[in-house]
Amino acid sequence: MKATLDEAADQAVQLLIADPATRANPYSVYGALRAHEVYRTPLEIWFAATYATCHQVVRHAGFRRRHGDSWERRAMLFGSLGRRWLDDQARWMLWLDPPDHPRIRSLVGQSFSARYIEKQRPAVEQVVNGLIDAIAGGGDVDFVQQFALALPLTLICDMLGIPVSDRRNFREWTTAASGTLEPMPSEEVQDAADRATDAFAAYFSDLVDERRHTPGDDLLTKLIAAENDEGKLSREELISNAVLLLAAGFETTTNLLGNGILALLRNPAQWELLVGDPGLAANATEELLRYDSPVQMATPRVAITDIDIDGHVIAEGETVVAVVGSGNHDPARFDQPDRLDVQRQDPSPLSFGAGPHFCIGAALARLEGAVAFEALARRLPQLELLETDPTWLPTLNLHGVRGLRVRA
Ligand code: HEM
Repeated sequence: MKATLDEAADQAVQLLIADPATRANPYSVYGALRAHEVYRTPLEIWFAATYATCHQVVRHAGFRRRHGDSWERRAMLFGSLGRRWLDDQARWMLWLDPPDHPRIRSLVGQSFSARYIEKQRPAVEQVVNGLIDAIAGGGDVDFVQQFALALPLTLICDMLGIPVSDRRNFREWTTAASGTLEPMPSEEVQDAADRATDAFAAYFSDLVDERRHTPGDDLLTKLIAAENDEGKLSREELISNAVLLLAAGFETTTNLLGNGILALLRNPAQWELLVGDPGLAANATEELLRYDSPVQMATPRVAITDIDIDGHVIAEGETVVAVVGSGNHDPARFDQPDRLDVQRQDPSPLSFGAGPHFCIGAALARLEGAVAFEALARRLPQLELLETDPTWLPTLNLHGVRGLRVRA
Protein backbone atom coordinates (compact mmCIF):
# COMPACT_ATOMS: atom_id res chain seq x y z
CA MET A 1 0.00 0.00 0.00
CA LYS A 2 2.78 2.42 0.98
CA ALA A 3 4.63 1.66 -2.28
CA THR A 4 1.49 2.48 -4.27
CA LEU A 5 1.02 5.75 -2.39
CA ASP A 6 4.68 6.63 -2.98
CA GLU A 7 4.39 5.86 -6.69
CA ALA A 8 1.28 8.03 -7.00
CA ALA A 9 3.00 10.91 -5.21
CA ASP A 10 6.19 10.55 -7.32
CA GLN A 11 4.06 10.63 -10.44
CA ALA A 12 2.23 13.73 -9.19
CA VAL A 13 5.58 15.51 -8.70
CA GLN A 14 6.69 14.47 -12.20
CA LEU A 15 3.47 15.81 -13.72
CA LEU A 16 3.72 19.09 -11.80
CA ILE A 17 7.24 19.61 -13.05
CA ALA A 18 6.88 18.46 -16.63
CA ASP A 19 3.28 18.46 -17.79
CA PRO A 20 1.74 21.79 -18.94
CA ALA A 21 -1.82 20.46 -18.58
CA THR A 22 -1.17 19.61 -14.93
CA ARG A 23 0.26 23.06 -14.33
CA ALA A 24 -2.93 24.56 -15.71
CA ASN A 25 -4.98 22.37 -13.37
CA PRO A 26 -2.72 21.08 -10.59
CA TYR A 27 -5.67 20.19 -8.34
CA SER A 28 -6.07 16.85 -10.12
CA VAL A 29 -2.78 15.56 -8.69
CA TYR A 30 -2.56 17.25 -5.28
CA GLY A 31 -4.63 14.49 -3.65
CA ALA A 32 -1.70 12.08 -4.17
CA LEU A 33 0.58 14.45 -2.26
CA ARG A 34 -1.94 15.07 0.52
CA ALA A 35 -2.15 11.33 1.12
CA HIS A 36 1.32 11.74 2.72
CA GLU A 37 0.64 15.03 4.58
CA VAL A 38 4.31 15.87 4.12
CA TYR A 39 6.14 13.99 1.41
CA ARG A 40 9.85 13.61 0.66
CA THR A 41 10.03 13.86 -3.13
CA PRO A 42 12.55 12.05 -5.33
CA LEU A 43 14.23 15.48 -5.61
CA GLU A 44 14.89 15.16 -1.86
CA ILE A 45 12.71 18.17 -1.13
CA TRP A 46 9.76 17.79 1.23
CA PHE A 47 6.32 18.95 0.06
CA ALA A 48 3.78 19.90 2.74
CA ALA A 49 0.42 19.44 1.04
CA THR A 50 -2.41 19.39 3.61
CA TYR A 51 -3.90 22.56 5.07
CA ALA A 52 -2.56 21.75 8.53
CA THR A 53 1.01 20.89 7.46
CA CYS A 54 1.27 23.91 5.09
CA HIS A 55 0.20 26.13 7.94
CA GLN A 56 2.74 24.60 10.33
CA VAL A 57 5.59 24.90 7.84
CA VAL A 58 5.10 28.56 6.94
CA ARG A 59 4.73 29.60 10.59
CA HIS A 60 7.42 27.43 12.18
CA ALA A 61 10.37 29.42 13.57
CA GLY A 62 12.63 26.41 12.98
CA PHE A 63 12.34 26.81 9.22
CA ARG A 64 14.45 29.59 7.79
CA ARG A 65 15.45 30.88 4.36
CA ARG A 66 19.05 29.89 4.84
CA HIS A 67 20.96 27.62 7.15
CA GLY A 68 24.66 26.90 6.94
CA ASP A 69 25.61 26.81 3.27
CA SER A 70 22.05 26.07 2.04
CA TRP A 71 21.87 29.22 -0.13
CA GLU A 72 25.14 28.38 -1.92
CA ARG A 73 24.18 24.69 -2.28
CA ARG A 74 20.89 25.58 -3.94
CA ALA A 75 22.69 28.06 -6.18
CA MET A 76 25.16 25.36 -7.21
CA LEU A 77 22.33 22.94 -7.92
CA PHE A 78 20.71 25.54 -10.21
CA GLY A 79 24.07 26.43 -11.77
CA SER A 80 23.42 30.01 -10.67
CA LEU A 81 26.34 30.91 -8.41
CA GLY A 82 27.56 34.41 -9.31
CA ARG A 83 24.49 35.14 -11.44
CA ARG A 84 23.16 38.72 -11.39
CA TRP A 85 19.61 37.65 -10.59
CA LEU A 86 20.73 35.59 -7.62
CA ASP A 87 22.88 38.38 -6.26
CA ASP A 88 19.86 40.71 -6.50
CA GLN A 89 17.35 38.29 -4.97
CA ALA A 90 19.71 37.56 -2.07
CA ARG A 91 18.76 41.04 -0.82
CA TRP A 92 14.97 40.59 -1.21
CA MET A 93 13.23 40.51 2.18
CA LEU A 94 11.49 37.37 0.90
CA TRP A 95 14.79 35.49 1.13
CA LEU A 96 16.10 36.92 4.40
CA ASP A 97 16.12 35.77 8.02
CA PRO A 98 16.39 37.82 11.20
CA PRO A 99 17.87 40.30 11.84
CA ASP A 100 17.88 41.53 8.21
CA HIS A 101 14.33 40.41 7.40
CA PRO A 102 12.53 42.42 10.13
CA ARG A 103 14.90 45.37 9.57
CA ILE A 104 13.84 45.71 5.93
CA ARG A 105 10.21 44.60 6.30
CA SER A 106 9.57 47.14 9.06
CA LEU A 107 10.61 49.99 6.75
CA VAL A 108 7.64 49.37 4.44
CA GLY A 109 5.19 47.70 6.85
CA GLN A 110 3.24 50.84 7.66
CA SER A 111 2.59 51.64 4.00
CA PHE A 112 0.91 48.23 3.58
CA SER A 113 -0.98 48.07 6.90
CA ALA A 114 -4.70 47.29 6.67
CA ARG A 115 -5.49 50.74 8.07
CA TYR A 116 -3.37 52.65 5.59
CA ILE A 117 -4.55 50.54 2.65
CA GLU A 118 -8.22 51.03 3.52
CA LYS A 119 -7.65 54.77 3.11
CA GLN A 120 -6.69 54.06 -0.51
CA ARG A 121 -10.16 52.68 -1.29
CA PRO A 122 -11.39 55.80 -3.18
CA ALA A 123 -8.22 55.75 -5.33
CA VAL A 124 -8.71 52.03 -6.07
CA GLU A 125 -12.36 52.64 -6.98
CA GLN A 126 -11.35 55.43 -9.32
CA VAL A 127 -8.84 53.24 -11.19
CA VAL A 128 -11.30 50.32 -11.35
CA ASN A 129 -14.09 52.51 -12.73
CA GLY A 130 -11.77 54.10 -15.29
CA LEU A 131 -10.73 50.66 -16.55
CA ILE A 132 -14.34 49.48 -16.73
CA ASP A 133 -15.29 52.66 -18.65
CA ALA A 134 -12.59 51.80 -21.17
CA ILE A 135 -13.79 48.23 -21.80
CA ALA A 136 -17.56 48.54 -21.33
CA GLY A 137 -19.40 47.93 -24.58
CA GLY A 138 -16.06 47.28 -26.27
CA GLY A 139 -17.01 43.84 -27.57
CA ASP A 140 -14.12 41.37 -27.65
CA VAL A 141 -11.46 42.44 -25.08
CA ASP A 142 -8.50 40.75 -23.39
CA PHE A 143 -9.53 40.95 -19.74
CA VAL A 144 -6.01 40.18 -18.49
CA GLN A 145 -4.27 42.88 -20.51
CA GLN A 146 -6.92 45.54 -20.20
CA PHE A 147 -8.06 45.02 -16.63
CA ALA A 148 -6.35 42.34 -14.53
CA LEU A 149 -2.84 43.57 -15.31
CA ALA A 150 -3.63 47.25 -15.61
CA LEU A 151 -5.24 47.62 -12.15
CA PRO A 152 -2.47 46.27 -9.86
CA LEU A 153 0.30 47.68 -12.06
CA THR A 154 -1.23 51.17 -11.83
CA LEU A 155 -1.71 50.95 -8.07
CA ILE A 156 1.73 49.62 -7.10
CA CYS A 157 3.45 52.07 -9.47
CA ASP A 158 1.43 54.93 -7.97
CA MET A 159 2.43 53.78 -4.46
CA LEU A 160 6.10 53.56 -5.38
CA GLY A 161 6.00 56.87 -7.25
CA ILE A 162 6.86 55.53 -10.70
CA PRO A 163 5.95 57.95 -13.51
CA VAL A 164 3.20 56.72 -15.87
CA SER A 165 5.46 57.08 -18.92
CA ASP A 166 7.99 54.57 -17.48
CA ARG A 167 5.68 51.57 -16.95
CA ARG A 168 5.82 49.95 -20.37
CA ASN A 169 8.48 47.28 -19.95
CA PHE A 170 7.72 46.10 -16.44
CA ARG A 171 5.65 43.03 -17.25
CA GLU A 172 8.32 41.69 -19.59
CA TRP A 173 11.03 42.24 -16.98
CA THR A 174 9.13 40.78 -14.02
CA THR A 175 8.03 37.74 -16.02
CA ALA A 176 11.68 37.11 -16.89
CA ALA A 177 12.84 37.61 -13.29
CA SER A 178 10.12 35.43 -11.79
CA GLY A 179 11.09 32.49 -14.02
CA THR A 180 13.78 31.85 -11.42
CA LEU A 181 11.14 31.03 -8.79
CA GLU A 182 10.51 27.79 -10.68
CA PRO A 183 12.18 24.52 -9.66
CA MET A 184 15.45 24.09 -11.60
CA PRO A 185 15.34 27.14 -13.94
CA SER A 186 17.11 26.50 -17.27
CA GLU A 187 20.18 28.42 -18.50
CA GLU A 188 17.95 30.30 -20.91
CA VAL A 189 15.54 31.33 -18.13
CA GLN A 190 18.47 32.47 -15.99
CA ASP A 191 20.03 34.48 -18.84
CA ALA A 192 16.71 36.28 -19.32
CA ALA A 193 16.47 36.89 -15.56
CA ASP A 194 19.99 38.37 -15.54
CA ARG A 195 19.07 40.77 -18.34
CA ALA A 196 15.84 41.80 -16.59
CA THR A 197 17.73 42.32 -13.32
CA ASP A 198 20.19 44.64 -15.06
CA ALA A 199 17.38 46.56 -16.70
CA PHE A 200 15.53 47.00 -13.38
CA ALA A 201 18.69 47.98 -11.51
CA ALA A 202 19.56 50.63 -14.09
CA TYR A 203 16.01 51.95 -14.08
CA PHE A 204 15.66 52.20 -10.29
CA SER A 205 19.16 53.56 -9.86
CA ASP A 206 18.25 56.57 -12.06
CA LEU A 207 14.87 56.99 -10.41
CA VAL A 208 16.38 56.91 -6.89
CA ASP A 209 18.89 59.62 -7.87
CA GLU A 210 16.13 61.75 -9.30
CA ARG A 211 13.84 61.25 -6.29
CA ARG A 212 16.66 62.10 -3.93
CA HIS A 213 16.71 65.59 -5.47
CA THR A 214 12.94 65.92 -5.82
CA PRO A 215 11.30 63.89 -3.01
CA GLY A 216 7.66 62.87 -3.44
CA ASP A 217 4.90 61.53 -1.21
CA ASP A 218 5.67 57.93 -2.17
CA LEU A 219 7.23 54.70 -0.97
CA LEU A 220 10.47 55.14 -2.85
CA THR A 221 11.04 58.49 -1.13
CA LYS A 222 10.42 56.80 2.26
CA LEU A 223 12.98 54.11 1.43
CA ILE A 224 15.50 56.76 0.37
CA ALA A 225 14.99 58.45 3.75
CA ALA A 226 15.74 55.10 5.42
CA GLU A 227 18.87 54.74 3.29
CA ASN A 228 20.02 58.19 4.40
CA ASP A 229 19.29 57.26 8.00
CA GLU A 230 22.55 55.42 8.61
CA GLY A 231 22.48 51.64 8.88
CA LYS A 232 18.80 51.15 8.07
CA LEU A 233 19.13 50.26 4.40
CA SER A 234 21.93 50.12 1.85
CA ARG A 235 21.48 51.46 -1.67
CA GLU A 236 21.64 47.91 -3.08
CA GLU A 237 18.99 46.74 -0.61
CA LEU A 238 16.80 49.70 -1.54
CA ILE A 239 16.94 48.93 -5.25
CA SER A 240 16.48 45.15 -4.87
CA ASN A 241 13.48 45.54 -2.58
CA ALA A 242 11.90 48.17 -4.82
CA VAL A 243 12.06 45.54 -7.61
CA LEU A 244 10.50 42.93 -5.28
CA LEU A 245 7.65 45.26 -4.26
CA LEU A 246 6.92 46.17 -7.85
CA ALA A 247 7.01 42.59 -9.17
CA ALA A 248 5.16 41.01 -6.22
CA GLY A 249 2.73 43.93 -6.28
CA PHE A 250 1.24 43.20 -9.67
CA GLU A 251 2.14 39.72 -11.01
CA THR A 252 0.19 37.90 -8.31
CA THR A 253 -2.82 40.21 -8.16
CA THR A 254 -3.14 40.05 -11.96
CA ASN A 255 -3.60 36.31 -11.53
CA LEU A 256 -6.16 36.77 -8.73
CA LEU A 257 -8.29 38.94 -11.05
CA GLY A 258 -7.76 36.83 -14.19
CA ASN A 259 -8.26 33.43 -12.53
CA GLY A 260 -11.11 34.90 -10.50
CA ILE A 261 -13.21 36.15 -13.40
CA LEU A 262 -12.53 32.92 -15.32
CA ALA A 263 -13.77 30.85 -12.35
CA LEU A 264 -16.85 33.03 -11.90
CA LEU A 265 -17.84 32.93 -15.57
CA ARG A 266 -17.23 29.18 -15.74
CA ASN A 267 -19.63 28.83 -12.81
CA PRO A 268 -22.55 31.01 -13.96
CA ALA A 269 -24.68 30.32 -10.88
CA GLN A 270 -21.90 31.80 -8.71
CA TRP A 271 -21.57 34.85 -11.01
CA GLU A 272 -25.35 35.32 -10.80
CA LEU A 273 -25.13 35.26 -7.00
CA LEU A 274 -22.51 38.01 -7.09
CA VAL A 275 -24.44 40.05 -9.64
CA GLY A 276 -27.53 39.71 -7.41
CA ASP A 277 -25.57 40.83 -4.34
CA PRO A 278 -22.30 42.63 -5.20
CA GLY A 279 -21.79 43.08 -1.44
CA LEU A 280 -20.53 39.46 -1.52
CA ALA A 281 -17.37 40.62 -3.32
CA ALA A 282 -15.04 40.61 -0.30
CA ASN A 283 -16.04 37.05 0.64
CA ALA A 284 -15.93 36.03 -3.03
CA THR A 285 -12.35 37.34 -3.20
CA GLU A 286 -11.33 35.09 -0.30
CA GLU A 287 -13.03 32.12 -1.93
CA LEU A 288 -11.40 32.84 -5.31
CA LEU A 289 -7.99 33.07 -3.62
CA ARG A 290 -8.68 29.63 -2.17
CA TYR A 291 -10.28 28.09 -5.24
CA ASP A 292 -7.52 28.94 -7.73
CA SER A 293 -4.59 30.44 -5.85
CA PRO A 294 -2.36 32.88 -7.81
CA VAL A 295 0.63 31.45 -5.91
CA GLN A 296 0.64 27.67 -5.64
CA MET A 297 3.73 27.20 -3.48
CA ALA A 298 5.41 29.20 -0.74
CA THR A 299 9.14 29.68 -1.22
CA PRO A 300 11.41 26.90 0.09
CA ARG A 301 12.50 26.83 3.71
CA VAL A 302 15.40 25.00 5.37
CA ALA A 303 15.17 23.27 8.77
CA ILE A 304 17.66 24.68 11.27
CA THR A 305 17.06 21.68 13.56
CA ASP A 306 15.20 18.36 13.26
CA ILE A 307 11.48 19.25 13.10
CA ASP A 308 8.52 16.94 13.57
CA ILE A 309 5.61 17.75 11.27
CA ASP A 310 2.69 15.45 11.98
CA GLY A 311 4.97 12.51 12.75
CA HIS A 312 7.41 13.07 9.84
CA VAL A 313 10.84 14.32 10.85
CA ILE A 314 12.34 16.92 8.53
CA ALA A 315 16.03 16.76 9.38
CA GLU A 316 18.29 19.73 9.95
CA GLY A 317 19.46 21.12 6.59
CA GLU A 318 16.57 19.61 4.60
CA THR A 319 14.33 21.79 2.43
CA VAL A 320 10.54 21.95 2.62
CA VAL A 321 8.00 23.63 0.36
CA ALA A 322 4.42 24.35 1.49
CA VAL A 323 2.13 23.64 -1.46
CA VAL A 324 -0.52 26.17 -0.46
CA GLY A 325 -2.63 25.51 -3.58
CA SER A 326 -3.02 21.94 -2.33
CA GLY A 327 -3.74 22.97 1.27
CA ASN A 328 -6.50 25.21 -0.09
CA HIS A 329 -8.22 22.12 -1.55
CA ASP A 330 -7.80 19.85 1.46
CA PRO A 331 -11.09 18.00 2.09
CA ALA A 332 -10.09 17.64 5.76
CA ARG A 333 -10.41 21.44 6.06
CA PHE A 334 -13.03 22.36 3.42
CA ASP A 335 -16.38 20.86 2.57
CA GLN A 336 -16.42 20.07 -1.18
CA PRO A 337 -13.09 21.87 -1.74
CA ASP A 338 -13.24 21.67 -5.56
CA ARG A 339 -16.53 23.55 -5.63
CA LEU A 340 -16.56 27.35 -6.03
CA ASP A 341 -18.88 28.87 -3.42
CA VAL A 342 -18.79 32.66 -3.13
CA GLN A 343 -20.89 32.37 0.04
CA ARG A 344 -18.53 29.88 1.72
CA GLN A 345 -18.19 30.60 5.42
CA ASP A 346 -14.61 31.35 6.46
CA PRO A 347 -12.64 30.38 3.33
CA SER A 348 -9.34 31.33 5.13
CA PRO A 349 -7.09 30.65 2.14
CA LEU A 350 -3.41 29.90 2.65
CA SER A 351 -2.66 31.89 -0.50
CA PHE A 352 -0.79 34.71 1.28
CA GLY A 353 1.26 32.32 3.42
CA ALA A 354 1.50 32.99 7.17
CA GLY A 355 4.10 33.67 9.84
CA PRO A 356 6.98 36.13 9.51
CA HIS A 357 6.93 36.18 5.69
CA PHE A 358 3.13 36.58 5.47
CA CYS A 359 2.44 38.55 2.29
CA ILE A 360 3.02 42.19 3.06
CA GLY A 361 0.65 43.17 0.24
CA ALA A 362 -2.29 41.02 1.38
CA ALA A 363 -4.49 43.97 2.45
CA LEU A 364 -3.81 45.73 -0.86
CA ALA A 365 -4.54 42.61 -2.95
CA ARG A 366 -7.73 41.94 -0.97
CA LEU A 367 -8.92 45.52 -1.47
CA GLU A 368 -8.18 45.36 -5.20
CA GLY A 369 -10.09 42.07 -5.50
CA ALA A 370 -13.09 43.23 -3.49
CA VAL A 371 -13.44 46.58 -5.28
CA ALA A 372 -12.88 45.03 -8.71
CA PHE A 373 -15.29 42.07 -8.38
CA GLU A 374 -17.96 44.31 -6.87
CA ALA A 375 -17.69 46.90 -9.65
CA LEU A 376 -17.54 44.25 -12.39
CA ALA A 377 -20.67 42.55 -11.04
CA ARG A 378 -22.53 45.88 -10.78
CA ARG A 379 -21.46 47.42 -14.06
CA LEU A 380 -20.83 44.47 -16.40
CA PRO A 381 -23.37 41.81 -15.35
CA GLN A 382 -23.54 40.62 -18.96
CA LEU A 383 -19.81 39.79 -19.04
CA GLU A 384 -19.28 36.69 -21.18
CA LEU A 385 -16.36 34.35 -21.77
CA LEU A 386 -15.21 34.23 -25.40
CA GLU A 387 -12.64 31.51 -24.80
CA THR A 388 -13.44 28.61 -22.55
CA ASP A 389 -9.97 27.08 -22.60
CA PRO A 390 -7.44 29.93 -22.25
CA THR A 391 -3.67 29.49 -22.30
CA TRP A 392 -2.01 29.32 -18.90
CA LEU A 393 1.34 30.77 -17.94
CA PRO A 394 3.99 28.03 -18.14
CA THR A 395 5.01 28.54 -14.51
CA LEU A 396 4.21 26.10 -11.74
CA ASN A 397 4.39 28.54 -8.88
CA LEU A 398 2.84 31.73 -10.25
CA HIS A 399 -0.45 30.39 -11.53
CA GLY A 400 -2.54 32.37 -13.96
CA VAL A 401 -3.99 32.72 -17.43
CA ARG A 402 -1.86 34.50 -20.02
CA GLY A 403 -4.85 36.24 -21.56
CA LEU A 404 -8.65 35.92 -21.39
CA ARG A 405 -10.98 37.05 -24.14
CA VAL A 406 -14.35 38.27 -22.86
CA ARG A 407 -17.27 40.24 -24.28
CA ALA A 408 -17.57 43.23 -21.95
C1 HEM B 1 -3.31 37.97 -4.76
C2 HEM B 1 -2.16 38.56 -4.63
C3 HEM B 1 -0.98 38.04 -3.86
C4 HEM B 1 -0.66 36.76 -3.48
C5 HEM B 1 -1.45 35.49 -3.74
C6 HEM B 1 0.60 36.83 -2.77
C7 HEM B 1 1.23 35.74 -2.19
C8 HEM B 1 2.34 35.83 -1.35
C9 HEM B 1 2.88 34.74 -0.60
C10 HEM B 1 2.36 33.30 -0.60
C11 HEM B 1 3.93 35.21 0.10
C12 HEM B 1 4.77 34.47 1.13
C13 HEM B 1 5.82 33.63 0.49
C14 HEM B 1 6.49 32.71 1.49
O1 HEM B 1 6.25 32.76 2.70
O2 HEM B 1 7.28 31.92 1.01
C15 HEM B 1 4.08 36.62 -0.24
C16 HEM B 1 5.07 37.44 0.24
C17 HEM B 1 5.25 38.74 -0.18
N1 HEM B 1 4.36 39.48 -0.94
FE1 HEM B 1 2.65 38.84 -1.74
N2 HEM B 1 1.01 38.13 -2.75
C18 HEM B 1 0.08 38.90 -3.39
C19 HEM B 1 0.09 40.28 -3.55
C20 HEM B 1 1.12 41.10 -3.14
C21 HEM B 1 1.14 42.53 -3.30
C22 HEM B 1 -0.01 43.38 -3.86
C23 HEM B 1 2.31 42.96 -2.83
C24 HEM B 1 2.72 44.41 -2.79
C25 HEM B 1 3.86 44.89 -2.77
C26 HEM B 1 3.07 41.79 -2.34
C27 HEM B 1 4.33 41.80 -1.79
C28 HEM B 1 4.90 40.73 -1.11
C29 HEM B 1 6.20 40.80 -0.45
C30 HEM B 1 7.13 42.00 -0.41
C31 HEM B 1 6.40 39.55 0.14
C32 HEM B 1 7.60 39.12 1.00
C33 HEM B 1 7.26 39.33 2.47
C34 HEM B 1 8.34 38.85 3.39
O3 HEM B 1 9.20 38.06 3.01
O4 HEM B 1 8.31 39.30 4.56
N3 HEM B 1 2.29 40.68 -2.54
N4 HEM B 1 3.08 36.97 -1.11
